[in-house]
Amino acid sequence: MIGLKRTKYCGDFEKSDIGKVVTVMGWVAKQRDLGNLIFIDVRDRSGIVQLAFSDQTDKVTFDRAYECRAEFVVAANGVVRERINKNPDIKTGDIEIFVKELKILAKSDVPPFEIGDGLKANIDLRLRYRYLDLRRSEMQNTLIMRHKIVKAARDYYDENGFIEIETPILVKSTPEGARDYLVPSRVHAGKFYALPQSPQLYKQLIMLSGYDRYMQITRCFRDEDLRADRQPEFTQIDLEMSFVDQSDVIEINEGFIKTVFKKVLDIDIKTPFERMPYKIAMERFGSDKPDTRFEMELVDLTELVKDTEFKVFSNAAKTGSVRGINFKGGANKMSRKEIDMLTDFVKTYKAKGLAFTKITDEARSSSYEKFLSKSEQQAIYNAMNAEIGDLILIVADLDDMVVYNALGALRCHIADKYELYDKDIFSFLWVTDFPLLEYSEEQKRYVAKHHPFTAVKDSDIDMLDKDPTKCRAKAYDLVLNGCELGGGSIRINNVDMQDKMFKALGFSESQAREKFGFLLDAFKYGAPPHGGMAYGLDRLVMLMLKKNSIRDVIAFPKVQNAGEPMTKCPSSVEKQQLDDLHISIIEDKNN
Ligand code: AMO
Ligand code: AMP
Repeated sequence: MIGLKRTKYCGDFEKSDIGKVVTVMGWVAKQRDLGNLIFIDVRDRSGIVQLAFSDQTDKVTFDRAYECRAEFVVAANGVVRERINKNPDIKTGDIEIFVKELKILAKSDVPPFEIGDGLKANIDLRLRYRYLDLRRSEMQNTLIMRHKIVKAARDYYDENGFIEIETPILVKSTPEGARDYLVPSRVHAGKFYALPQSPQLYKQLIMLSGYDRYMQITRCFRDEDLRADRQPEFTQIDLEMSFVDQSDVIEINEGFIKTVFKKVLDIDIKTPFERMPYKIAMERFGSDKPDTRFEMELVDLTELVKDTEFKVFSNAAKTGSVRGINFKGGANKMSRKEIDMLTDFVKTYKAKGLAFTKITDEARSSSYEKFLSKSEQQAIYNAMNAEIGDLILIVADLDDMVVYNALGALRCHIADKYELYDKDIFSFLWVTDFPLLEYSEEQKRYVAKHHPFTAVKDSDIDMLDKDPTKCRAKAYDLVLNGCELGGGSIRINNVDMQDKMFKALGFSESQAREKFGFLLDAFKYGAPPHGGMAYGLDRLVMLMLKKNSIRDVIAFPKVQNAGEPMTKCPSSVEKQQLDDLHISIIEDKNN
């Protein structure tokens, strides 16, 4: 009788096993019945091995093999032998197991989709039956790679003196950024915990407690809209270091990137990475997370058109800017209709229009040149380095940010559509010198661009009282192929400076005390200079494995409406549970 002891995983059998009596277990991937011959592919996380049955197999075993259907769980015992029809597509394609005894350990209903890698079931169905989707080797390989990346991270930071310390998951709500997920307290009627958006304050306190180097691989929660690179719960590789400046944090993290790519993908990444101030990133790429795998950089035309008769340009030049990109060779790739679609595209970034000049062998057609003098036309032509074959695209707006956002996005949109870059490249860069504050349209006030604990650049400290909007921060982001992979900063480590920062953010003294009193108190007891950063682990895995969405690298992700299709959470709860929590529900009239 077969017990539950396996000889080894299915995918690990080799020619050297020929002649050995072995036991395997796994799921039936496929059963082929050829009358007096039956073949069953058995799958586990390592791969597939073929079981063979013939008229020489005893009847009980043969009948069981006949009964087997996809996704039955089986155990088989038999002899490894060379295969007659070899299958070069699988690792074990040279051998098969000629079965003496077969046991069906569990039967399976017909699955809602076939568990193969060729077939692409619809994502809703896959997520509803995620446990079946996770049986697919593509998903299994992804999660195994994710494990390797996590292990490489723990090992690297451990080797560099970092200590992993867990921080609480039920924390105080201090929303400064995304919306918090709240957890009602039973014991304290009407009071709430929040789930952490990051361990930021705790890791700073850990520095104050003298642990010197901290790291944690931890779940974070943010109630914000989902996108391909955003989930409401996600994982950070979070770290903090004492007695460091920006270069020290950057250096240790370049070491991490180098190590993780080498260990997991055997790819050599060249360090140090380019460091680019935020202002330059915006001017050149219209983005604070520029994709540097391709060029098509922005050109500033504001000066050239500030006095033109064409009001769209000259008005924009007064308070905002006029900038363009040159899609080299684009003139022959895009019809007028496609250019109109680009106009619709930039409008989603609040641009009011898109001016273009299409320069082909035969003609030069333009939406704006008729409004400009010959010399103005020529000046733009020269500045854009225009040649036959080019498509010049220009956005003008009273708000510089609109021009940056629209052209920054347009540049990536065109590059994606026309595959203007090598998909195998990993292009890293640090964006530095971020503005300390940014204006929030939603909150109608200045908010911290990174977070309120970020230090001001030494050269800008004098401006913190006078005009904090002009201050730059000791903040840095690590960007990979146009995605913000991680970010961090050097922190404020004295009470006076933290007070000033809260003032700049428009907090009264009592508001600051109410929210962050514990931190202000802690800073009175010897806070070392410190700084750190956090990576989005899901994004790192997604980019390393060239997946399109972080959903593809998370075992049980949420979907667009932040729900989870398998368990169907969020869900209603019993009235008693609500009563215990002192909560009553106001019916949503819209539902
Ligand atoms: P930040 O808010 O920039 O910094 O977050 C760090 C990194 O986390 C990832 N990330 C996300 N990934 C998936 N889904 C999300 N909703 C999501 N939000 C953020 C990004 C981002 O770069 N405490 C600071 C770090 C520090 O200063 O040390 C922080 O959380 O890759
Ligand atoms: P209009 O006079 O508004 O019809 O604009 C003439 C042309 O200028 C349009 O066809 C667009 O190509 C271009 N245009 C209009 N608004 C903008 C803008 N904000 N930025 C760039 N080009 C614009």
